[in-house]
Amino acid sequence: MSRYFAIVPAAGSGSRMGAERPKQYLELLGRPLLWHTLNTLCHAPAIEQVFVVISPEDQWWETFSWESLESLQVLRVGGETRAQSVSNALAAVCGQVGQEDWVLVHDAARPCLSQLQVADLIHTLQDDEVGGLLAVPVADTLKRGDAQGRVAQTISREGLWQAQTPQMFRYGLLDKALQACPGVTDEAGAIEALGLSPRLVAADMTNFKVTYPRDLALAAQILQARGEL
Ligand code: C5P
Repeated sequence: MSRYFAIVPAAGSGSRMGAERPKQYLELLGRPLLWHTLNTLCHAPAIEQVFVVISPEDQWWETFSWESLESLQVLRVGGETRAQSVSNALAAVCGQVGQEDWVLVHDAARPCLSQLQVADLIHTLQDDEVGGLLAVPVADTLKRGDAQGRVAQTISREGLWQAQTPQMFRYGLLDKALQACPGVTDEAGAIEALGLSPRLVAADMTNFKVTYPRDLALAAQILQARGEL
């Protein structure tokens, strides 16, 4: 039987936020944003252990309490890029995770992931040959802008999806893919480079990535409306 693990890369600086601290540590409903992300994964019944990847120089982690998150293990192996952080984590846990075990890689900056979305992803992919990711069909008309801020082109949205996380692949395949293709911006990109087609599992926009300061208020509203906290 394959087991399920989660890896949360949280070693980014979040420069687009323009804040005084990395965005994973910004306050969201009285806790660091990262706590909410980890809380969902640590309480997902199918997930055996959650690994959070922080930078070796991280000075914020110790200043918060993570005690309620029992299945959490901290890895101070963050790298230069997101893909490098994930690769380093895979190497660090090789003794604990089997080649055929599933790994769910999830952005630290997506604190509104719900238990339903995790369960849906696992249920849909548990017998899949390749694995896959949560994603949302593009609803808006897409425009390419030019350097003057004017429309250069309208792009058909047909068949387009916005990739989210978690992205769920077997340990052995994911490790091989990231080693072969370290320049990718998500795990699915590395799997695709091997010639495989990850499955798209329909999610919704509540699992959005906190990127700009105004996103924090929206994340707080989504979490409060759920009423779990
Ligand atoms: O910057 P962006 O929001 O795209 O980062 C996506 C995720 O990757 C975040 O959770 C961030 O903390 C993580 N990351 C990382 N190591 C890096 C860069 C980003 O773990 N060197």
